[in-house]
Amino acid sequence: MNLETDFCGVKFSNPLVVASGVIGVTGASMKYAVEKGAGGVTTKSIWMKEHKGHPCPIIVANEHYMVNAVGLPHGGIESGKHEIEEYQKNQPAPLIANIVATTGEEFALTAEAVSEMNPDIIEVNISCPNVEDEFGRPFACSKDDAADVTAKVRAKTKLPLVVKLSPNVSNIVEIAKACVDAGADGLTLINSLGPGMVIDIDMREPVLANKVGGMCGPAIKPIAIKIVYEVHKALPNVPIIGTGGVTNGEDAIEMTMAGATLVGIGAGVFYRDIDIYGLVRDEMIKWGQDKGVNSLNKLRGTAVK
Ligand SMILES: Cc1cc2nc3c(=O)[nH]c(=O)nc-3n(C[C@H](O)[C@H](O)[C@H](O)COP(=O)(O)O)c2cc1C
Repeated sequence: MNLETDFCGVKFSNPLVVASGVIGVTGASMKYAVEKGAGGVTTKSIWMKEHKGHPCPIIVANEHYMVNAVGLPHGGIESGKHEIEEYQKNQPAPLIANIVATTGEEFALTAEAVSEMNPDIIEVNISCPNVEDEFGRPFACSKDDAADVTAKVRAKTKLPLVVKLSPNVSNIVEIAKACVDAGADGLTLINSLGPGMVIDIDMREPVLANKVGGMCGPAIKPIAIKIVYEVHKALPNVPIIGTGGVTNGEDAIEMTMAGATLVGIGAGVFYRDIDIYGLVRDEMIKWGQDKGVNSLNKLRGTAVK
C-alpha cells in the first residue's frame, strides 16, 4: 500500500509523525526517529523564554495509559533554533515546529520568530492539560480564545498553520470551526486528556509530584478517534493530524478511516520503543496487501457516515 501523503501542500513519505514532546527534543533525536521510520517530526513545544517544567516524578504508566506532567520544559527560542538548525542539515523528512505561549501576543511573537527558522508547518499548542495551575484554563477550552490565538498567529506567518486542540471540551466541532475561520489550515486532534491522577496506595499520595497529569496512550484512542471522526465529518476539507493512543498499524488505519491525513504517535514510543514508527508503517503496508488496498488515500474518512 502506498503511504505517501500530502498535508497542507507538504509531502510525507508516510503519515506517521512524531507527536510533540516525546522525542522531538533535539535535532539528533528527531533525525533518529526518521531513520527509524517516522514520516515527519514535531518539535517539543517551543517557548520564547526558558521554561522549567514540573518536578519529578513526571510520568506514571501501565499497559493501558500513561499520565504525564512534564509541564512543557524548554530552553527558549534560541535553543529551539539550534535544534531546528541541527535537524535541517540534510533534513530527512518534514518538520512541524510546535509553539506554546501564555498570551495571544506572545504566541504571535513566537510564531514570527519560529517562522524565520523555516519549518514546513507550525503547530500551535493551546491545549496542554497539565499546566493549568501555572497558566490557567487552556485557550483550546473556549472557541473565542482559540480563534483569537489562531488569528494572531495567522497574522505573523505564511507557513501552513495547524492548531492543536483539547479533548476536554463539550463541543469540539464549534472550536475547530472557529480556528479554521480564524485562519488555521489544519488541526491536530488531540492533546492529552484530563488531567488524570494515579494514587500510590502504599504511600497514600498521588504518584506525580504535580499530583495530576495529561492522559495519553492506548486508553485514550477511542476518544481521539471519535473527535477526529466528528471534526472530519463537519469539516471534510480540513486536514487533521490524528493523535492519541496509536500503537500499531491497525490503530493508524482506524485513525485514517476516521478522517486523519497524518497520524501522530507519542506515548507509543514508551510501549514499542523508537522502532514503533517503522513497525507501524510496515503493519499498515501489510494490512493494505492483505485487504487489496493499494493507497492510503483511498481509506481516508471512509468510516465517516
Ligand atoms: C511525555 C509527553 C510529553 C508531551 N509534551 C507535549 C508538548 O510539549 N507539546 C504538545 O503539544 N503535546 C505534548 N504531548 C502530547 C502529545 O503530543 C499527544 O498529543 C498526546 O500524548 C496524545 O497522543 P499519544 O497517546 O500518542 O501520546 C506530550 C505527551 C507526552 C506523553
